[in-house]
Amino acid sequence: MKGIILAGGQGTRLHPITISYSKQLLPVYDKPLIYYPLSTLINLKIKEILIIVNPDQLNNFKKLLGNGSQFGLKFSYATQKKANGIAEALIIGKNFIKNNSVALILGDNIFYGQDLYKNVSVINNNNGSIIFLYKLNNPSQYGVANIKKNKVTSIVEKPKKPKSNYVVTGLYIYDKNVSNLVKKLKPSKRGELEITDLNNLYIKNNNLNYIKLKDSSVWFDAGTPDSLLSASQYIQAIQNRNNILISSPEEVSLKNKIITKVKLNKILKSKSQNDYYKFLKDSEN
Ligand code: TTP
Repeated sequence: MKGIILAGGQGTRLHPITISYSKQLLPVYDKPLIYYPLSTLINLKIKEILIIVNPDQLNNFKKLLGNGSQFGLKFSYATQKKANGIAEALIIGKNFIKNNSVALILGDNIFYGQDLYKNVSVINNNNGSIIFLYKLNNPSQYGVANIKKNKVTSIVEKPKKPKSNYVVTGLYIYDKNVSNLVKKLKPSKRGELEITDLNNLYIKNNNLNYIKLKDSSVWFDAGTPDSLLSASQYIQAIQNRNNILISSPEEVSLKNKIITKVKLNKILKSKSQNDYYKFLKDSEN
């Protein structure tokens, strides 16, 4: 399975911060936001990743992430000229996806908890698609799943009267048919190719599966000043209390045996001696 991180968009809710700089490069406590979805993909054992960014930000992303070798991965890049919708990622990524299944993750989504990784083999061997649902008190700002008899029967984008508390998070697994299905989408009223429309097509074909994330796991979409700050505070609190690093791609690669400690140590020689890199230096393989 291949991976795509969608890291374009306008970030209007974070203006003026994101007028000249991508949201996904902003800090969440001690690391850039994009490290979090990147770590999620590594935990899903994905090694080839396409990163889609706004054209004027390409150099910033390349400077941070390079070709992926520092994490034992292979990165390629593409640009999205306008924020034409999340589903456009699968059109931009067509030649990258080829005949593979793909995990698409939004560049501002933070997942923390064990339940995703317990399902790695299910996720990697799926037919159809898999979405990940998370229970929220106020689901109206998101795509909300209508669930009947253990099946998602429809997804409604930003409903005024939500039919459940389960929102669709920004991680989507699609089988190799996705390139054919995404071609069928038409822009919505707001002019975007909607990921919800694609998921509803999978429902129509009886091919949409879902995994409910546990209440004890954490999902943040760091798109507003408040959620960005909450995410930072949460990460700071847990990291410092438990003396761990959350969603460090270097560490996740090490744990998954994608890079060796010897190689990581070599890479760390050129890095500054701050807490982040010191932690990695001291970590076990
Ligand atoms: P959103 O948060 O829905 O949009 P945004 O990031 O442009 O922010 P705002 O609503 O404040 O203007 O997007 C979710 C994620 O998907 C985010 O990481 C940006 C990305 N995205 C794209 O890269 N291209 C797109 O066309 C859209 C709609 C989103």
